[in-house]
Amino acid sequence: MLNGRNILLCVTGGIASYKAAALASKLVQAGAEVQVAMTKSAERFVGKATFAALTRKAVYDDVFIEHDASKIAHIDLADEADLIVVAPATANTIAKLASGIADDFITTTILAATCPIVVCPAMNVNMLDHPATKRNIEQLKQDGVKIIAPGIGNLACGWVGKGRLPEPEELVLTIEGLFADKLLSGRNVLVSAGPTIERIDPVRYMTNDSSGKMGIALAEAARDLGADVTLVHGPVSIPLPSGVTAVAVESGEEMLQAILKRYANQDIVVKAAAVADYRPKVRYEQKQKKINGALEIELEETTDILKTLGEAKTNQILVGFAAETEQLETHSLAKLAKKKADFIVANDVSDMSIGFGSDQNAVTVFGQDGFSRDFPAQDKTKLARELMTLFAEALR
Ligand code: PMT
Repeated sequence: MLNGRNILLCVTGGIASYKAAALASKLVQAGAEVQVAMTKSAERFVGKATFAALTRKAVYDDVFIEHDASKIAHIDLADEADLIVVAPATANTIAKLASGIADDFITTTILAATCPIVVCPAMNVNMLDHPATKRNIEQLKQDGVKIIAPGIGNLACGWVGKGRLPEPEELVLTIEGLFADKLLSGRNVLVSAGPTIERIDPVRYMTNDSSGKMGIALAEAARDLGADVTLVHGPVSIPLPSGVTAVAVESGEEMLQAILKRYANQDIVVKAAAVADYRPKVRYEQKQKKINGALEIELEETTDILKTLGEAKTNQILVGFAAETEQLETHSLAKLAKKKADFIVANDVSDMSIGFGSDQNAVTVFGQDGFSRDFPAQDKTKLARELMTLFAEALR
């Protein structure tokens, strides 16, 4: 997808600049023509020579130093770029971009650009949470800039929190997504993600280990293929994607209602959520006191959302998941038939390296007329793109 694409990588001055070198290298390996521009602050972290060697191109850092006198570099680079990626983007550069200040090579070039722009904020958690930074990021979003949410973890400043530049591999996947064929342009896709929680009393509940990663990756894949995406999600702690309509729910019943309300308008519905099959028959209004001895809680069945959708199906492509710990194929084929789905994505959740909570997954998709296709273990983002392409092709 990146072969021959002109990508202008703008590196600004944060400690995460070192990751930008790996990003440049991976983009070049993926076939992109990568041109690097740096701020003077970035050069205090990583030298220009590193990027020049990785890209085999001169690095730009000064509007007044032209490598070729017959050209005006900041205008030509802005015109030639298919995509501009600012990684890492400091609070300072974000503030300048948000207010249209053009006082260095990067900000001047971006002001002259008409191509899509991706900004990857990376900084101390408090700088990121500062009202000014939040305001500036919001402004960039309104200006049509795509913001890649920073990751959570150990920050170089010693704090633990949000602010890490995502790993270069993740950034490459996101950038590839921007160049994906818009197979789902004009289509509506609804994805359910994450766990549901079924309350016992105000402070106790039943739930499961779903992190929402698989469903959120599917929503992002559908968005990148041009769809209008609704993400109905249970409680998740990972960042929600931009550019999709997110509907937060808690219980299976709330998920059912949120999906039914939107079902008639959908072209594809993918049920990646891990919905509870049972819920406590009684939900206590007050916190239950400890009793002497064992406590029994009676459970009742929840509505099977996928089955309900299967029975009400008109022209939608309906996709369910099957999380199984044994007899993967037998149980998945039974679910395909019982729930009247077009596809069931069979997930072996006995393997802890894939499935619940992990970044990777391996699945087999079963469909009508004996269709079956294996997807080997891979990053959920990449898998989601392949799955969504399969569903989009089925729709066509
Ligand atoms: O969220 P992650 O941490 O990334 O993990 C991903 C995942 C393992 C949760 C995901 O890949 C997955 O397998 N999701 C389906 C989990 C599940 O509930 O499987 P199931 O076999 O119990 O249910 C079968 C299908 O029926 C599912 O599509 C489920 O959404 C649906 N269902 C189940 C019960 C119910 N009451 N209503 C439903 O619609």
